[in-house]
Amino acid sequence: MRSSPLKSPDRRRWLGAAGCAAALSAAGALGSRAATAADRACASGSSRVLVLYFTWAGSAKAVAEEIHRLLGGDIARLEPQEPYPAEYCATVDRAKAERESGVRPALKSGLPDAARYDVIVIGHPIWSGDMPQAVLGFMESQDWTGKTVAHFTTHGGSGLGRSHDTLRRLQPGARLTEPLAVYGWGGVRDLSSASKWLRRIGLLR
Ligand SMILES: Cc1cc2nc3c(=O)[nH]c(=O)nc-3n(C[C@H](O)[C@H](O)[C@H](O)COP(=O)(O)O)c2cc1C
Repeated sequence: MRSSPLKSPDRRRWLGAAGCAAALSAAGALGSRAATAADRACASGSSRVLVLYFTWAGSAKAVAEEIHRLLGGDIARLEPQEPYPAEYCATVDRAKAERESGVRPALKSGLPDAARYDVIVIGHPIWSGDMPQAVLGFMESQDWTGKTVAHFTTHGGSGLGRSHDTLRRLQPGARLTEPLAVYGWGGVRDLSSASKWLRRIGLLR
């Protein structure tokens, strides 16, 4: 789970084309494996958590699965009805054409109804400095007013790019936490930033 088979070329950088004190003290006595279980109970509490992610080469999937392992709840992948090519350059070409024409690629159906959740974690790779058009289209279809929304990106050097501003614009009623950007060009080497982030934003103790 630490690294996923990646389709992107192996280059170092993208170049541009509440209430859980008892559970926690018990966890302290039981060791790290039990602590993870207690952490999960703590994080979920009465909150219903949904982790949503889009991925092309596997990095955002790896981060999303780590977050799901830590928080519990449900996890679902945003998958385009028409899959992107396996080849990097062909994917870049298609993504560029979609951005330039403003297309929102349709997603496969069967996603959980976000209205049923209190906390939504949304993650995606940065494409051309922003969220992929398929994620953009999905976000435009959602109203996450009143929900806690934790946003992460995987990237090859752009960090969050413009994507967090985009998310804020599309979900003005959501309570956006501090976002997380994970370097993921050629795979995610270190998933520890995910648990640190979840603790920082109060979703994990
Ligand atoms: C079409 C496309 C466009 C990309 N554009 C950017 C970009 O603008 N900035 C950046 O830092 N990385 C960019 N990347 C690299 C990815 O964001 C990075 O490798 C990410 O970790 C991939 O996540 P994934 O494995 O979940 O697909 C791009 C990758 C692709 C395929």
